Amino acid sequence: MPHLHIKKFKKLKFPHSNDGVRFNFIAVNASRDDEKLISTTIEDEDFFLLVREDEDKKLLKTDKLTRPSSTQKIHNALLSYAKEAALEVLDSNVHHSIKNIHLKEVNALKNIEYFANEFPDVDDVRIEVGFGSGRHLLHQAKENPKIFFIGIEIHRPSIEQVLKQVNIQKLDNLMILDYDARLFMELVPSNKVSKIYVHFPVPWDKKKHRRVISTSFIEESQRVLKVNGRLELRTDSENYYAYSYETFINFPKISLEIKKNRDIAISSKYEDRWKKQEKNIYDVTMINELFSDDLEIEGDFFFSEFKSSYEELLNLSGSTKKYENFFIHFERAYTLDDGVMIRTSMGSFDRPEHLYIIIRDKNISYYPTLPLKSKSNLVAHKFLNGVLNG
Ligand SMILES: C[S@@+](CC[C@H](N)C(=O)[O-])C[C@H]1O[C@@H](n2cnc3c(N)ncnc32)[C@H](O)[C@@H]1O
Repeated sequence: MPHLHIKKFKKLKFPHSNDGVRFNFIAVNASRDDEKLISTTIEDEDFFLLVREDEDKKLLKTDKLTRPSSTQKIHNALLSYAKEAALEVLDSNVHHSIKNIHLKEVNALKNIEYFANEFPDVDDVRIEVGFGSGRHLLHQAKENPKIFFIGIEIHRPSIEQVLKQVNIQKLDNLMILDYDARLFMELVPSNKVSKIYVHFPVPWDKKKHRRVISTSFIEESQRVLKVNGRLELRTDSENYYAYSYETFINFPKISLEIKKNRDIAISSKYEDRWKKQEKNIYDVTMINELFSDDLEIEGDFFFSEFKSSYEELLNLSGSTKKYENFFIHFERAYTLDDGVMIRTSMGSFDRPEHLYIIIRDKNISYYPTLPLKSKSNLVAHKFLNGVLNG
């Protein structure tokens, strides 16, 4: 994660702009002022830089939630802030020139808005969820040049490694997305996808809500799969296999194929590890038999006028509102020079979305982007609008 280790943080006079980088405002954690967020804009993309001031270490880095897709923008923003505020940098992993030339060339990396605005108009799409080292994804894309692949991952170093390979191998039938695959599935058009690969997902035995496979994930998978389309789960965890089987079997209009220790054309890094340990490997393949209705998502993210007080907002920090199929959790509050900002998670229990909301004067708005237009987010938004107004 790019960061600057600094001697002391100094505040600029906001807004401040130089050389294509604009620093708009600062948000200070309302309960501990050792955490601050600096709103930054480069080429119309807004994100936060994060300041962490522990007693022994002071860091300037990026906020994970709003992190831009380009590593170069992150580097520019960090270096620019340090220069403009005359910060003394003790140590850093940020370079002036682009370290990884392949990242500069790449256009395979897309953001969620790209898919939300208009899903690629292609006949045959396959999706790989959590591609890790990317061995399987790259192999598939190379072997099937006429098929369009979307690889989804949340681990940045894996994404960068795979992007490098996409350039080296000059693959033009593969797009990469840095996003939670469970949320992404909600905006894929119906009856579109021929295969979904979920190979060696993290079993999350203690935090089951973080698992990729869940009732709602299967529901969305069935909707997006063509008739006879396949969802391929491959796992070394007997627990995860049993849990997934139980979850799949409750679905109508599917058939299941179960295989044990099946060899596939390419073995992933994880698979090699488990094979060395002589662990069993389970395949559960769901074959879809349902033709689904078109995806229709009605609603918007409009907030009504703010009528409550900033004090009441700050008191929401740490609280959770639970409803039948979704929740709203107010993670923490920040003070702005002219308002309040709240970091919130909301939506369905197994696919929550994390967001910032800014309240200034009578206006409430999401920042820097709107939530993903999913059914659960739209429902949660309606309740959020009510809660923020008391
Ligand atoms: C155990 S690794 C397996 C990687 C690869 N499929 C393989 O077989 O080597 C699981 C991967 O899933 C990714 N992951 C976990 N949850 C995810 C989610 N909700 N959306 C996208 N990727 C996810 C993790 O970052 C990790 O790289």
